[in-house]
Amino acid sequence: MTEDEIEEIKKKAIFEIANALNRKDLEEIKIEYLGRKKRLNEIIRRIKDLPIDKRPLIGQLANKTKREIEEQLKRREKELPPSRYKLPSIDVTMPPAHLPYGRIHPITQMSNQIIDVFIRLGFEIVEGPEVEYSSYNFDALNILPDHPARDMHDTFYIEDSEGEVLLRTHTSPVQIRIMKEHKPPLRIVVPGKVYRRDADISHSPMFHQVEGLLVDNEVSFADLKGVLNAFLHEIFKGVEVRFRPSFFPFTEPSVEVDIRCTVCGGTGCRVCKGTGWLEILGAGMVDPEVFKNVGYDPEDYLGFAFGLGVERLCILKHGIDDIRLFFENDLRFLDQF
Ligand code: PHE
Repeated sequence: MTEDEIEEIKKKAIFEIANALNRKDLEEIKIEYLGRKKRLNEIIRRIKDLPIDKRPLIGQLANKTKREIEEQLKRREKELPPSRYKLPSIDVTMPPAHLPYGRIHPITQMSNQIIDVFIRLGFEIVEGPEVEYSSYNFDALNILPDHPARDMHDTFYIEDSEGEVLLRTHTSPVQIRIMKEHKPPLRIVVPGKVYRRDADISHSPMFHQVEGLLVDNEVSFADLKGVLNAFLHEIFKGVEVRFRPSFFPFTEPSVEVDIRCTVCGGTGCRVCKGTGWLEILGAGMVDPEVFKNVGYDPEDYLGFAFGLGVERLCILKHGIDDIRLFFENDLRFLDQF
């Protein structure tokens, strides 16, 4: 028995370990080389039969080799995937684990649905900034400095050295931006977030609007009625629509558009506050002052504009009773859309 013999055992062991394909192989190699009655231990057991001067050398070498083989076994074990027979068996008849699906937020769905109708009517989608100049949000839209909407009470103002800046209170300033950049004919819809200092079950400090603007040489109030009727019948099938005189500084004449209450059908309830009608959007013919502010000659052009609240539409369509549900991210609510 010589050092060569031990070296030979080591080489073979290392080769076999490197080629082991699973933990079961490793277990067999371990028994083969390190088992009680096997190769290395057998050598160690027989050291006492060796000449006295050779014993320490062979003993040390055998022990060192044993440790090396153990290390190699551990290293290889870490590289291998867990052995198959230790995995729980797979029951192929089990129903699959529930994978939660992502969904489009109800407000985005509603907004997309609204926009789709106007796209089919030939409108183009544009967007504008949520942080806006007060001059675009108010002045250019003919909302004069003493108008109550400009009160600190309703508007979020932002400090800026460039001039008065705020979080837009409606999507109407995008009308101004587009008209300043483009000549008619224009047919645009503008979806986006708007901000007002308001918070209760029907008001959120941030909500969504869709604005519409059409400008051309010959546009009449009948066009406005036609387009909005078509739109409302697309969203609320077969619903009764009414146009009611109203006022906005940037349209003249102005209307508010109502539909028959979707909750009570017109007999009067809490949602329609007993009137039998639900106010759905604001609209009107573009005020000549607004045309002047963007450099259009009011003698050349006519147009109509409208604006609607997406949350309100969504609430009425689905019978939701609290606007805050849209922004709490409760999956039990969102999962239903
Ligand atoms: N901007 C108005 C609002 O937020 C809505 C509106 C838009 C009315 C366009 C008329 C024309 O209340």
